[in-house]
Amino acid sequence: MAAQRVPAVKGTRDVLPIDTYKKADDPWVRTGHFHLVEDAARSLFPLYGYREARTPILERTDLFARGIGEVTDIVSKEMYTFDDHDVRVSMRPEGTASLVRAYVEHAVQAAEPDSKWWYLGPMFRRERQQRGRYRQFTQVGVEAFGSPGPRIDAEQIEMLDRWLRALGVPFEMHVNTLGDAACRPKYREALQEFLRARAAELCEECRKRTETNPIRVLDCKNPGCQKVASEAPKMQEFLCDACRAHFDGLREGLARLGVGHVVDARLVRGLDYYTRTAYEAIATSGLGAQSTVAGGGRYDGLVRELGGGDVPGVGFAAGIERLALLAARAGSEKASRPVLFIAPLGPAEEARADELAQRLRAAGIAAEVSFRRSSPGNQLKRADALGARYALVLGEQELASGKARLKELATGAQHDVELDSLEAALRGRP
Ligand code: HAM
Repeated sequence: MAAQRVPAVKGTRDVLPIDTYKKADDPWVRTGHFHLVEDAARSLFPLYGYREARTPILERTDLFARGIGEVTDIVSKEMYTFDDHDVRVSMRPEGTASLVRAYVEHAVQAAEPDSKWWYLGPMFRRERQQRGRYRQFTQVGVEAFGSPGPRIDAEQIEMLDRWLRALGVPFEMHVNTLGDAACRPKYREALQEFLRARAAELCEECRKRTETNPIRVLDCKNPGCQKVASEAPKMQEFLCDACRAHFDGLREGLARLGVGHVVDARLVRGLDYYTRTAYEAIATSGLGAQSTVAGGGRYDGLVRELGGGDVPGVGFAAGIERLALLAARAGSEKASRPVLFIAPLGPAEEARADELAQRLRAAGIAAEVSFRRSSPGNQLKRADALGARYALVLGEQELASGKARLKELATGAQHDVELDSLEAALRGRP
């Protein structure tokens, strides 16, 4: 009898190199789709001066409570938290608080007042599982420390726009302003007053939020709450002069850089550290309810809140699973396929095939050898299944003469090659 299987934890997923599952409306995401998304970020972000930082998955719970906000859904309900002897720790639900901690802890401000960082890694939130929403997910994010003005916000949004375009993602860029410590409290009060008067129309959660975090009522998905939200006072009407000038500057910057966007007064974000600029890239098709592929904004008080100096910051993070899903839907994938499949027919040929493959790989050419003995016809079928561009059958005759036929699988064309100069023969071909 087979032993009992151990299933994966709810809300986590495996990403496999092969298609094991296919349904027209929910494409299976393979590692190649992840690579496409990640590699595009890796090559683009450094062009804007972002350099990679890596921080731990485990942090003190207090970092997130103070950084993201005690009353946010993330901190109050969704963190994986446990006691590590005398320290209460959580698995990071996002990257910004951790990066700010590292920035403060290593006194980066003194060495490098303006510093741009990017990061990639798994995040954990105990959310209800849905398509595009997982309990372990991956973010690529960026944080720019040190610049208070709106030009850097616009530069960063333009970078996000360029990245998503390069991936072929259909999206719309939404921007808003959330005010700052000078003007948001007045807005919060006015909003609260308005919401209290309309409490009967709100869902239970939003009646609570009215008291704890009224701004979050604005992005509740419940139709009753949405109606109330659409009639609620808007932050725009309460902005102080400095916040208004920042938002105008951002919009001018975006126009100058040619970034199409919509102003969305209901965009509020689920983390409490934001000031002024908030933005989200929203997929216009292909994702259903979880359509926000990236979100971010400015957090001018966070470095100070976490024990550092008065350093402004602005950043965003994107969900890689969502982007990979869109890439899978678009049929684009970064494939890792062998250039050449070598099929040896006997033991002596096998030894020669192993050496040839070793030599090709050392020269940077992806080569695969067959480990099975079967007919040349079957070997060619296997080469095809692997997606190889060329196949080479190695028999006694080829071994003796040092010459073989390179078969181009897509066209069936054959080329005579010398085994000793296989690298050159493959390099010379497109
Ligand atoms: P966030 O909006 O919470 O922002 O997350 C950013 C992105 O991560 C979302 O737009 C979404 O694509 C993805 N994401 C979030 N939760 C899940 C989930 N449960 N499953 C799959 N994908 C998910 C932040 O985390 C901020 N730290 C962004 C930021 C950086 N703000 C300033 N700097």
